[in-house]
Amino acid sequence: MLNQSPAQRIEPPEGSMAVGTGKGGVGKSTVAAHLAGESAKDGYRTLLICVTGQDDDDLGIKRYSRGVHPKGASALDGEGLYRAIHDRVPLQPIREVRPNLDVLPGGPRVADIANVLMLRLMQEGPGVVQSLAHSLAPIAALYDRILFDSAPENDALEQLVLAAARTLIVPTRSDDSSIAGMERISKNFKVVKQQVNPSLQLAGAFLYGSNRSATLMHAAVRRDIRKTLGEGAPILDTIVGYREVPARNARKKGLLFSEYADLLPTSATPYDVKAGRATEADVVPETIVPLAKEMRELTNEIFEHHRRVA
Ligand SMILES: Nc1ncnc2c1ncn2[C@@H]1O[C@H](COP(=O)(O)OP(=O)(O)O)[C@@H](O)[C@H]1O
Ligand SMILES: [Mg+2]
Repeated sequence: MLNQSPAQRIEPPEGSMAVGTGKGGVGKSTVAAHLAGESAKDGYRTLLICVTGQDDDDLGIKRYSRGVHPKGASALDGEGLYRAIHDRVPLQPIREVRPNLDVLPGGPRVADIANVLMLRLMQEGPGVVQSLAHSLAPIAALYDRILFDSAPENDALEQLVLAAARTLIVPTRSDDSSIAGMERISKNFKVVKQQVNPSLQLAGAFLYGSNRSATLMHAAVRRDIRKTLGEGAPILDTIVGYREVPARNARKKGLLFSEYADLLPTSATPYDVKAGRATEADVVPETIVPLAKEMRELTNEIFEHHRRVA
């Protein structure tokens, strides 16, 4: 989307951070939702903007009708985000999805944003990459922290997010295609920083959803990350383990890991299921406890890195 002609600068909000890597299924949406949720729980006024075509609804906004929706047309399914960009008006998030947490959900309509940008690019030039930054600017002061979830495999949408953020945090899995996905975000990071957002900094990269005791493999992945993102790329220590069952259940219930873990003391047991008093879905797996703890460790470390570079 960008070429060589300069665009007018918009300073991204200080507490804004993008979660991105050019590959799907590595944990971006999970981590973005948890960064936003933990931040809000800590008392920071937080906004989560999901610039992604897949709405995983980790916060249960759609399935459990959470939050105070803006008057008029729906903000769900990426519609709110699309309208703001298309009509060039301020973002109108769904408010108080949790205390202190407002959200602009992603969804299928986000794909159309890329089309709008491409059409405008011809008439207006590379400044269109700042469309999201423009729609965010009027409400940015309402928030201490702004998190972006980003779309993989789409340069235009990745650049749109990077133009509006102060820092980038990059999750990856250990497989080669996830490592290759980092090359895309790395390339977009460089063009956006050079041409429209010189404040943009790399907060760090981290391995997500891995066997925590595979330390030799972790060292090899660290080398791969440095090869892709540069020798100076900060790499985080926390590794959230691969724990499929609690991760999947929590998302289904529209609960953050810590919220789901809070249900454990009153959960049905496998014994109740056998006795016909409960169903599988009522059983909170005990592995939610380490998962919630590791995620909390990770979000703390990410915010610390953000502070260091922002
Ligand atoms: N720690 C984890 N262990 C196992 N699976 C996880 C973990 N965290 C998230 N998941 C699952 O991995 C899948 C991909 O995660 P997601 O956050 O949607 O990735 P992305 O946004 O990068 O596509 C989802 O099904 C999610 O529930
Ligand atoms: Mg996602």
